Amino acid sequence: MGILERFRLDGKRAVITGGSRGLGRAIAQALAEAGADLVLVARDAEQLASARTELLSTGRQVEVLVGDLSTPDGTETVCQTLLQQFAPIDILVNNVGGRRINIPTENLSLADWQRILDLNLTSAFLCAREIGKQMVERRRGNVINVASIAGMVIFRGMHGRTYEVAKAALLQLTRALAADWAPFGVRVNAIAPGAFLTDANRRWFTEMPHLRSMVESQIPMGRLGVPEEIGPAAVFLASDASSYMTGAVLVIDGGFTLW
Ligand SMILES: NC(=O)c1ccc[n+]([C@@H]2O[C@H](COP(=O)([O-])OP(=O)(O)OC[C@H]3O[C@@H](n4cnc5c(N)ncnc54)[C@H](OP(=O)(O)O)[C@@H]3O)[C@@H](O)[C@H]2O)c1
Repeated sequence: MGILERFRLDGKRAVITGGSRGLGRAIAQALAEAGADLVLVARDAEQLASARTELLSTGRQVEVLVGDLSTPDGTETVCQTLLQQFAPIDILVNNVGGRRINIPTENLSLADWQRILDLNLTSAFLCAREIGKQMVERRRGNVINVASIAGMVIFRGMHGRTYEVAKAALLQLTRALAADWAPFGVRVNAIAPGAFLTDANRRWFTEMPHLRSMVESQIPMGRLGVPEEIGPAAVFLASDASSYMTGAVLVIDGGFTLW
């Protein structure tokens, strides 16, 4: 098999949570261009439909599922539907997440703490458990968790530290599942993005105009990432090109964590 052939995903079905916008949308594009059929999950039906229309031009099958992964109940419902309607699933990208709040820890309510843990960590755990169970039974599968460099360093200029904690735990969940499921042919890896230009960050930059230049000054490459710069790493991790990698974290941050 030629080297580029090893990156192909033909005949694979990939589920991408939060696949309608931002990094998830870019990952969806990359996986489809590499040959995978897609199932995108998000809350907004219209945005899902427009992502689907755009992605159909890759020639792949693209299905969408409206669901909310912010609560354990919502996530379990999504997983049940995914398994009923779209099994077998070869690739699971746990991408839903976000900081959402900028509240100092000394003022953080338990409800907010729990809400952000559920969104970033419990959703990934439940999707991995439900869909991973089927992968373990099939003796094949691939899970990619979209974590963050905030799981490795503390982000300057922002609060809402549940995010850092959840992403750090997501990295450790990645390693634990990788170890446990390696004997069953299921690989589990993570991507840790730095600061990217997505809707979520555009909102923070609007609310805090000084933040963008402050963040850029912390990045050796001097700029934010664009979502398209995440896609190739997802294809690499999802494909046989990374066949001997599990429990790894690919940091894509323009050098943010070097300083
Ligand atoms: N952007 C960055 O710079 C950056 C950096 C490091 C890590 N990350 C991580 O990368 C991932 C994606 O971030 P992003 O910036 O691309 O996010 P985003 O722009 O906010 O996009 C999020 C995607 O997730 C969906 N989504 C949001 N909440 C959802 C929910 N409760 N249930 C189901 N779907 C939901 C959105 O669609 P709907 O709104 O329609 O549901 C959309 O498709 C997150 O885990 C984030 O923590 C991002």
